[in-house]
Amino acid sequence: MHDIQKLTVLGTGVLGSQIAYQAAFHGFDVVAYDLTNDAIDGARARMAKLATVYVADEVAGATDKTTAAALDNVRYSTDLADAVSRADLVVEAVPESLEIKRALYEKLATLAPAGTIFATNSSTLLPSDLKNFTGRPDRFLALHYANNVWRQNTAEVMGTTDTDPVVYQAVVNFARRSGLVPIELKKEKAGYVLNSLLVPLLNAAAELLLEGVADPETIDKTWRIATGAPAGPFQIYDVIGLKTAYNVAVASPEPGSQAWAGYLKANYIDKGKLGTATGEGFYNY
Ligand SMILES: NC(=O)c1ccc[n+]([C@@H]2O[C@H](COP(=O)([O-])OP(=O)(O)OC[C@H]3O[C@@H](n4cnc5c(N)ncnc54)[C@H](O)[C@@H]3O)[C@@H](O)[C@H]2O)c1
Repeated sequence: MHDIQKLTVLGTGVLGSQIAYQAAFHGFDVVAYDLTNDAIDGARARMAKLATVYVADEVAGATDKTTAAALDNVRYSTDLADAVSRADLVVEAVPESLEIKRALYEKLATLAPAGTIFATNSSTLLPSDLKNFTGRPDRFLALHYANNVWRQNTAEVMGTTDTDPVVYQAVVNFARRSGLVPIELKKEKAGYVLNSLLVPLLNAAAELLLEGVADPETIDKTWRIATGAPAGPFQIYDVIGLKTAYNVAVASPEPGSQAWAGYLKANYIDKGKLGTATGEGFYNY
């Protein structure tokens, strides 16, 4: 199988824009597909912003020139057949809904060339939930980016029992060549490696706070000093965003999660304190 050179990203929202720009910055030919011209305008603006962020964050090799050149590696399309016609790899980053993803894969199955690999960036669905809609379970897997891909540059690669090992390695290589650190999962796992570790930590921190055992500063300080980690769980909450934390809690069947959702709403969301994005959350920024 030849190396992946041409990438198409489906859905150009928060993650899709970052996935497209990260690959473009590393020299890949990228097509960014979304449903409407308005969505494409949003993606253009997000990627133009990323060009400045890469320079400001001192990403290796990022200059005004290289980050502007990366923007030229991205073509935009609202026509799915056109967008995928020459893709070696399609990364799907549409909303986290089984129905939306299913409908898209069913179209994609017939429109994409037979050799094209499909990867989902889904955070909560397993690739097994989607593989039967792709028409090519052997060429389908999950490639999971973290938000702020230029800094938090893990790429978790997770196949199903149907994924061809050659395809899996091609995607691992693509991740590496696009400036990411591939994290190879040997089997499917909800939450991948990262969220399997992170979610229990965040939940335990919430429980300590709600039970009145310790305040956020004390809990964070304990974690930082005793483990050497740079940030504690409430600092991480602020980066993730308290609206996202609230949405996760509301949707969770776990005992205690509704109390946590209520706490976040009353003390933070309703006061416009959403974390680092708004300058205030558990901490002031
Ligand atoms: N936001 C995160 O921090 C994060 C991190 C890792 C993974 N993810 C995953 O990435 C995926 C996208 O999340 P997001 O936060 O970027 O969402 P988002 O809502 O910011 O963007 C979704 C984009 O998909 C577009 N879209 C909707 N239906 C479409 C369709 N049928 N075809 C093409 N485009 C369509 C929307 O117009 C929008 O631009 C989800 O599966 C999510 O689980 C998100």
